[in-house]
Amino acid sequence: MPDLFSDLANNRESLGPGTWLFRGYALDVGDQLLEAIGRIAEVSPFRRMKTPGGREMSAAMTGCGARSWVTDRRGYRYSELDPETGRHWPAMPALFSRLAADVADRAGYPGFGPDVCLVNRYQPGARMGLHQDRDEQDYRWPVVSVSLGLPATFLWGGLRRGGSPARLVLEHGDVLVWGGEDRLRYHGIAPVPDGRCKVTGHVRYNLTFRRAL
Ligand code: SIN
Ligand code: FE2
Repeated sequence: MPDLFSDLANNRESLGPGTWLFRGYALDVGDQLLEAIGRIAEVSPFRRMKTPGGREMSAAMTGCGARSWVTDRRGYRYSELDPETGRHWPAMPALFSRLAADVADRAGYPGFGPDVCLVNRYQPGARMGLHQDRDEQDYRWPVVSVSLGLPATFLWGGLRRGGSPARLVLEHGDVLVWGGEDRLRYHGIAPVPDGRCKVTGHVRYNLTFRRAL
Protein backbone atom coordinates (compact mmCIF):
# COMPACT_ATOMS: atom_id res chain seq x y z
CA MET A 1 0.00 0.00 0.00
CA PRO A 2 1.25 3.52 -0.72
CA ASP A 3 1.53 5.93 2.18
CA LEU A 4 -1.87 7.44 2.51
CA PHE A 5 -2.22 10.80 4.15
CA SER A 6 -5.79 11.10 5.34
CA ASP A 7 -7.48 14.45 5.15
CA LEU A 8 -10.38 13.40 7.32
CA ALA A 9 -12.13 16.75 7.28
CA ASN A 10 -12.52 16.48 3.53
CA ASN A 11 -13.01 12.70 3.36
CA ARG A 12 -10.03 12.22 1.12
CA GLU A 13 -6.69 10.47 1.15
CA SER A 14 -3.59 11.73 -0.61
CA LEU A 15 -1.64 9.52 -2.98
CA GLY A 16 0.73 12.20 -4.20
CA PRO A 17 1.01 15.97 -4.43
CA GLY A 18 -1.76 16.16 -7.05
CA THR A 19 -3.70 12.99 -6.29
CA TRP A 20 -6.68 12.37 -4.05
CA LEU A 21 -8.69 9.25 -3.37
CA PHE A 22 -12.32 9.74 -2.35
CA ARG A 23 -13.53 6.45 -0.92
CA GLY A 24 -17.18 5.71 -1.68
CA TYR A 25 -17.73 9.11 -3.26
CA ALA A 26 -19.96 7.72 -6.04
CA LEU A 27 -21.81 5.13 -3.93
CA ASP A 28 -25.05 7.11 -3.77
CA VAL A 29 -25.29 7.36 -7.54
CA GLY A 30 -23.82 3.92 -8.32
CA ASP A 31 -27.09 2.51 -9.66
CA GLN A 32 -27.72 5.58 -11.80
CA LEU A 33 -24.20 5.43 -13.22
CA LEU A 34 -24.65 1.75 -14.08
CA GLU A 35 -27.98 2.42 -15.78
CA ALA A 36 -26.36 5.18 -17.80
CA ILE A 37 -23.52 2.84 -18.81
CA GLY A 38 -26.18 0.40 -20.07
CA ARG A 39 -27.75 3.12 -22.20
CA ILE A 40 -24.37 4.19 -23.58
CA ALA A 41 -23.56 0.60 -24.54
CA GLU A 42 -26.85 0.30 -26.45
CA VAL A 43 -25.64 3.05 -28.77
CA SER A 44 -21.89 2.41 -28.75
CA PRO A 45 -21.34 -1.20 -27.72
CA PHE A 46 -18.39 -2.40 -25.64
CA ARG A 47 -15.62 -3.74 -27.84
CA ARG A 48 -12.09 -4.97 -27.35
CA MET A 49 -9.85 -2.61 -29.28
CA LYS A 50 -6.51 -3.51 -30.75
CA THR A 51 -3.25 -1.83 -29.78
CA PRO A 52 -1.10 -0.39 -32.59
CA GLY A 53 0.97 -3.60 -32.25
CA GLY A 54 -2.14 -5.66 -33.14
CA ARG A 55 -2.87 -7.10 -29.68
CA GLU A 56 -6.43 -7.19 -28.45
CA MET A 57 -6.86 -5.36 -25.14
CA SER A 58 -8.35 -7.47 -22.36
CA ALA A 59 -10.65 -4.71 -21.10
CA ALA A 60 -13.61 -3.86 -23.35
CA MET A 61 -14.29 -0.17 -23.98
CA THR A 62 -16.87 2.31 -25.05
CA GLY A 63 -17.24 6.00 -24.35
CA CYS A 64 -19.41 9.06 -24.34
CA GLY A 65 -18.99 12.78 -24.79
CA ALA A 66 -17.82 14.97 -27.66
CA ARG A 67 -15.05 12.47 -28.36
CA SER A 68 -13.60 9.30 -26.95
CA TRP A 69 -10.33 7.44 -26.93
CA VAL A 70 -9.63 4.81 -29.54
CA THR A 71 -6.73 2.58 -30.48
CA ASP A 72 -6.12 0.62 -33.65
CA ARG A 73 -3.32 -0.09 -36.13
CA ARG A 74 -2.93 3.67 -36.70
CA GLY A 75 -2.24 4.41 -33.04
CA TYR A 76 -3.91 5.98 -30.03
CA ARG A 77 -6.08 9.06 -30.42
CA TYR A 78 -9.33 10.79 -29.58
CA SER A 79 -12.07 10.50 -32.14
CA GLU A 80 -15.36 12.36 -32.50
CA LEU A 81 -16.89 9.34 -34.17
CA ASP A 82 -17.20 5.82 -32.85
CA PRO A 83 -15.26 3.78 -35.44
CA GLU A 84 -17.53 0.80 -34.73
CA THR A 85 -20.79 2.57 -35.61
CA GLY A 86 -19.50 5.45 -37.75
CA ARG A 87 -21.62 7.79 -35.63
CA HIS A 88 -21.00 10.22 -32.80
CA TRP A 89 -20.50 8.77 -29.35
CA PRO A 90 -23.53 9.10 -27.07
CA ALA A 91 -23.75 12.44 -25.27
CA MET A 92 -22.26 12.61 -21.81
CA PRO A 93 -25.06 12.29 -19.23
CA ALA A 94 -25.43 15.40 -17.05
CA LEU A 95 -24.87 13.24 -13.96
CA PHE A 96 -21.45 12.19 -15.29
CA SER A 97 -20.16 15.68 -15.99
CA ARG A 98 -21.56 17.02 -12.73
CA LEU A 99 -19.96 14.25 -10.67
CA ALA A 100 -16.59 14.66 -12.42
CA ALA A 101 -16.62 18.45 -12.04
CA ASP A 102 -17.63 18.29 -8.35
CA VAL A 103 -14.99 15.80 -7.33
CA ALA A 104 -12.29 17.54 -9.40
CA ASP A 105 -13.18 20.75 -7.58
CA ARG A 106 -12.77 19.01 -4.21
CA ALA A 107 -9.39 17.75 -5.34
CA GLY A 108 -8.25 21.29 -6.15
CA TYR A 109 -9.04 21.43 -9.87
CA PRO A 110 -11.89 23.94 -10.22
CA GLY A 111 -13.54 24.47 -13.58
CA PHE A 112 -13.01 20.93 -14.91
CA GLY A 113 -15.34 20.32 -17.85
CA PRO A 114 -14.68 16.85 -19.28
CA ASP A 115 -15.29 16.33 -23.00
CA VAL A 116 -14.49 12.61 -22.77
CA CYS A 117 -15.68 9.76 -20.62
CA LEU A 118 -13.96 6.51 -21.47
CA VAL A 119 -15.86 3.50 -20.12
CA ASN A 120 -13.83 0.37 -19.41
CA ARG A 121 -15.35 -3.03 -18.66
CA TYR A 122 -13.20 -5.68 -16.99
CA GLN A 123 -14.23 -9.28 -16.74
CA PRO A 124 -12.24 -11.48 -14.34
CA GLY A 125 -8.68 -11.81 -15.65
CA ALA A 126 -8.81 -8.55 -17.62
CA ARG A 127 -6.10 -5.99 -16.85
CA MET A 128 -4.61 -2.72 -18.00
CA GLY A 129 -0.85 -2.53 -18.38
CA LEU A 130 1.10 0.39 -16.92
CA HIS A 131 0.69 3.45 -19.12
CA GLN A 132 0.46 7.23 -18.99
CA ASP A 133 -2.65 9.15 -20.04
CA ARG A 134 -0.94 11.47 -22.49
CA ASP A 135 -3.16 11.85 -25.53
CA GLU A 136 -4.79 14.98 -24.11
CA GLN A 137 -3.73 18.48 -25.13
CA ASP A 138 -3.57 20.30 -21.84
CA TYR A 139 -2.10 18.48 -18.84
CA ARG A 140 -3.34 21.17 -16.48
CA TRP A 141 -6.63 19.28 -16.38
CA PRO A 142 -6.77 16.21 -14.14
CA VAL A 143 -8.03 12.70 -14.84
CA VAL A 144 -11.05 11.63 -12.78
CA SER A 145 -11.56 7.89 -12.39
CA VAL A 146 -14.71 6.26 -10.98
CA SER A 147 -14.70 2.56 -10.08
CA LEU A 148 -17.84 0.42 -10.06
CA GLY A 149 -18.48 -3.27 -9.47
CA LEU A 150 -15.81 -5.83 -8.63
CA PRO A 151 -12.80 -4.54 -6.69
CA ALA A 152 -9.48 -4.33 -8.51
CA THR A 153 -5.90 -3.48 -7.65
CA PHE A 154 -4.81 -0.13 -9.04
CA LEU A 155 -1.12 0.13 -9.83
CA TRP A 156 0.31 3.56 -9.11
CA GLY A 157 3.76 4.10 -10.54
CA GLY A 158 6.04 7.07 -10.96
CA LEU A 159 6.68 9.54 -13.76
CA ARG A 160 9.04 7.11 -15.47
CA ARG A 161 8.59 3.54 -16.50
CA GLY A 162 10.17 0.97 -14.19
CA GLY A 163 10.29 0.38 -10.47
CA SER A 164 7.50 -1.37 -8.67
CA PRO A 165 4.27 0.56 -8.53
CA ALA A 166 2.30 1.07 -5.33
CA ARG A 167 -0.86 -1.05 -5.17
CA LEU A 168 -4.22 -0.13 -3.79
CA VAL A 169 -7.61 -1.76 -4.07
CA LEU A 170 -10.33 0.34 -5.69
CA GLU A 171 -13.85 -0.65 -4.78
CA HIS A 172 -17.37 0.08 -5.95
CA GLY A 173 -17.96 3.82 -5.63
CA ASP A 174 -14.34 4.90 -5.13
CA VAL A 175 -13.16 7.95 -7.05
CA LEU A 176 -9.55 8.85 -7.75
CA VAL A 177 -8.39 12.19 -9.13
CA TRP A 178 -4.85 12.78 -10.38
CA GLY A 179 -3.38 15.91 -11.90
CA GLY A 180 -0.74 18.58 -11.44
CA GLU A 181 2.66 17.04 -10.71
CA ASP A 182 1.11 13.57 -10.84
CA ARG A 183 -0.69 14.03 -14.15
CA LEU A 184 1.70 11.83 -16.14
CA ARG A 185 2.27 9.09 -13.58
CA TYR A 186 2.21 5.53 -14.87
CA HIS A 187 -0.82 3.58 -13.77
CA GLY A 188 -2.67 0.39 -14.56
CA ILE A 189 -4.93 -2.35 -13.25
CA ALA A 190 -3.70 -5.78 -12.10
CA PRO A 191 -5.68 -8.75 -13.46
CA VAL A 192 -9.15 -8.47 -11.91
CA PRO A 193 -9.82 -11.41 -9.60
CA ASP A 194 -13.11 -13.24 -9.97
CA GLY A 195 -15.73 -12.36 -7.44
CA ARG A 196 -19.32 -11.43 -7.25
CA CYS A 197 -20.59 -7.91 -6.89
CA LYS A 198 -24.20 -7.47 -5.76
CA VAL A 199 -24.83 -4.86 -8.41
CA THR A 200 -22.69 -5.82 -11.42
CA GLY A 201 -22.12 -9.56 -10.99
CA HIS A 202 -18.72 -10.59 -12.31
CA VAL A 203 -17.78 -7.26 -13.81
CA ARG A 204 -15.77 -4.15 -12.96
CA TYR A 205 -16.47 -0.87 -14.74
CA ASN A 206 -14.29 2.18 -14.71
CA LEU A 207 -15.19 5.63 -15.96
CA THR A 208 -12.33 7.99 -16.74
CA PHE A 209 -13.14 11.60 -17.36
CA ARG A 210 -10.67 13.71 -19.26
CA ARG A 211 -10.46 17.01 -21.06
CA ALA A 212 -8.93 16.04 -24.40
CA LEU A 213 -9.10 19.40 -26.24
C1 SIN B 1 -7.32 3.75 -17.26
O1 SIN B 1 -6.18 3.96 -16.87
O2 SIN B 1 -7.74 4.23 -18.33
C2 SIN B 1 -8.28 2.91 -16.48
C3 SIN B 1 -7.90 2.70 -15.07
C4 SIN B 1 -8.94 1.88 -14.35
O3 SIN B 1 -9.61 1.04 -14.95
O4 SIN B 1 -9.11 2.07 -13.13
FE1 FE2 C 1 -5.11 5.52 -17.93
